[in-house]
Amino acid sequence: MFQHLPTAPPDAILGLTDIFAKDPRPHKINLTVGVYRDERGQTPVLDSVKEAERRLIVEETTKGYLGIDGHPGYLRAVVGLVTDGVVESERVAAVQSPGGTGALRIGAETIAKFFPQARVWVSNPTWANHHSIFEAAGLKVESYPYLGADKTSLDLSAMLRCLEDQGRAGDLVCLHACCHNPTGIDPQPAGWEEIARLLAAKGMLPFIDYAYQGFGDGLREDGHAIRTLLAANPEAVICSSFSKNFGLYSERIGAVLAVLERGEHREAMLSQMKQTVRANYSNPPRHGASVVATILEDRTLRQQWEGEVAAMRMRISAMRQQFVEGMSKTDAKRDFRFLLQQKGMFAYTGLTPLQADWLKKERAIYLVGTGRINVACISPQTLDYLCQSIAECLQATAS
Ligand code: LMR
Repeated sequence: MFQHLPTAPPDAILGLTDIFAKDPRPHKINLTVGVYRDERGQTPVLDSVKEAERRLIVEETTKGYLGIDGHPGYLRAVVGLVTDGVVESERVAAVQSPGGTGALRIGAETIAKFFPQARVWVSNPTWANHHSIFEAAGLKVESYPYLGADKTSLDLSAMLRCLEDQGRAGDLVCLHACCHNPTGIDPQPAGWEEIARLLAAKGMLPFIDYAYQGFGDGLREDGHAIRTLLAANPEAVICSSFSKNFGLYSERIGAVLAVLERGEHREAMLSQMKQTVRANYSNPPRHGASVVATILEDRTLRQQWEGEVAAMRMRISAMRQQFVEGMSKTDAKRDFRFLLQQKGMFAYTGLTPLQADWLKKERAIYLVGTGRINVACISPQTLDYLCQSIAECLQATAS
């Protein structure tokens, strides 16, 4: 039966980590996957998480199944954190999900079941997995332009024009609430206003990917786009992940929040999302949800966590700054200061797939083929080697 099964291509992001793991060169650097690393190159368990886990060991009384929609305390806290109180909680149908990917899939699949004609518009470029998730959920994927020709700034007019001309009522528009992946380039507040108004006027649904809350300007500040979109649009779907801001990557913890026009629509939406969950993995895992709930519901732990998110954000931003300075000290004839406008973990360097390949082969430096690097994976020890290697790469590949 399986003898003719074709081999799937490696994943554009996680596949590189597999290749990296097998690379025997001791000086290798992995700048691919969106995982935070500290100065020593470690992905630490946050102190607030460790403390919550200590409490759970003592206080947790069961490992029985959670409800299909997840941990009630977690869901309450997450709705508050994500919507910042701008919509009444009765208007929000929330379901715990296995990470942000799970949230996107539950939301998309539930919509596809009832609105099979709906298309989902994603930015070009977008997170490599968006296409696969939406297609697997049964939605047709379309792209809207995002960057200008220089690939260093947003072309808001082109984005709006495309959605205005080609979008239809009932289509979904996938937006990155902050720290756009892979570019780190977000609309300005006035741009968000225009996007929010256009979607409302056209009757298109904001389908928001919120994976990096706290990594841009701050936990509350990063919710600006969500508040703006919700102020103009009666409905929206928000897909949250706590992989990054709680460092709970392998616990797979996220949530999908469907914001409804009226509270009376909530029960139907919740029941449908629960059906999607039940048919996929029955009900969600407990541990990550218990950790997040313990932290968000305890004033001291929450403060500690907020401080830890701020520290991660500041380290990322410092590395971005140092990378730009480092490049300016090399003899590369390229100005990388545009990277200072970008937000979050990623820097969209403008390096080509050919250059990414050169860096991998010649210098054991791994980045995503789109030229995306994770600045959180740079450390003071690797900075000089990285900058020097990129400068040499630019020279070697100059045509
Ligand atoms: C990334 O973009 O690197 C992260 O979101 C991790 C992933 O699953 O791709």
